[in-house]
Amino acid sequence: MANNSIGLIGPGRLGLCVALLLEQKGYSVTAIEQNQRYLEALQTKSFDSPEPEVNELLRTSKHLRFSSDLKECLTEDHELIFIYVPTPENDQGYDHSILKGVLEAIMNQGERKHPVTLVVGCTTLPGFNQTIEERLKALNYHLVYSPAFIAQGTIVKNLQHPDMLLFGASDMTYALKTEVIMSQIALNHPQAHHMSLISAEITKLATNCFLTAKIAFANAIGDLASQSGADQKAILGAIGSDSRVGHKYLSYGYGFGGPCFPRDNRALNYFAREAGYTLQISEATERANEQHTDFQIAQLLQTTSQQEEIYFDHVTYKPGTDILQESQQLKIALALAKEGRLIKVCGSSKVVQTLKSTYGNVFRYEVKN
Ligand SMILES: NC(=O)c1ccc[n+]([C@@H]2O[C@H](COP(=O)([O-])OP(=O)(O)OC[C@H]3O[C@@H](n4cnc5c(N)ncnc54)[C@H](O)[C@@H]3O)[C@@H](O)[C@H]2O)c1
Repeated sequence: MANNSIGLIGPGRLGLCVALLLEQKGYSVTAIEQNQRYLEALQTKSFDSPEPEVNELLRTSKHLRFSSDLKECLTEDHELIFIYVPTPENDQGYDHSILKGVLEAIMNQGERKHPVTLVVGCTTLPGFNQTIEERLKALNYHLVYSPAFIAQGTIVKNLQHPDMLLFGASDMTYALKTEVIMSQIALNHPQAHHMSLISAEITKLATNCFLTAKIAFANAIGDLASQSGADQKAILGAIGSDSRVGHKYLSYGYGFGGPCFPRDNRALNYFAREAGYTLQISEATERANEQHTDFQIAQLLQTTSQQEEIYFDHVTYKPGTDILQESQQLKIALALAKEGRLIKVCGSSKVVQTLKSTYGNVFRYEVKN
């Protein structure tokens, strides 16, 4: 790049971490945020993030500016712009309306003198990026799709130590420019994969689809072991030691949930149906996840007495986050409470407050920050 200015639109959970790491690498970053209250918290550096390392990186940042004015990141000195706005789930996979709105607003500013690399880091339904790339190209904006493989609670760490970097583009020149930048954030020299836009979109979803299938498989084998009086830990430990399988995501526990795994699995299924292909593996994974939760509910009802208090040390979708979205443990706690069982749930003050306002005295509560 001729200069070291980078634009970023949508410094939310993911985008803020990318912006902070780019700034740490010496780039001057202009981040555009629409939510006024959040924008002020970022500008005054008073935002309190639940993500490790973010507060410290924000406090010490010197060349990271936040603004609500899109034009500030569309000046000629910004040759590379990242986009991380939300793409929430809907019944057609993802709702791209916010992302489309941003891309339209960019195009409304007219043609660029020098080529600009536009990196979409949002999760999109396969095919979305190619529907808009020609119009962008006509104005000298060149699209690269580069999703991050991260998990809530470890976003900075995952960006710094990714298993792979993924780039989808029609023109390799711009994908390579993006790789140069992303490889500076990644400290572990990960392999970079270059492919077409749609192939990269499928790769992103298929990776999560594989992981959900693996989790569902481990839980199903664990349930089978438990049903037949066998040792689930010994069985899964042995299977995982086969190098073709591996231990990661192969332990017995709650079903998968949260804001990414279930929706990415469903979106790939939706995309497959639209493409005229039945992706049975993704449908089976979803059903197996539900079956596992039902199994755990039945087991808890069988192995505990009516008077006994059942304690959940977390009902967020995984420990260490405040996210309750599609949490299987919360589903279990609610199902047991419905059967008249005494349920105590533990969580941070924020989580307990949310639970109290939603479920009131369905549960007993314990705050542990
Ligand atoms: N958070 C994750 O773990 C994760 C993981 C993989 C992929 N993703 C993908 O990354 C994208 C962003 O996810 P997130 O979790 O960071 O979302 P988020 O909601 O935390 O952040 C998005 C930010 O964009 C802002 N925004 C919305 N419209 C805007 C606009 N027009 N201009 C400027 N800012 C705008 C929002 O106010 C918010 O601060 C999504 O597509 C998501 O699927 C997220």
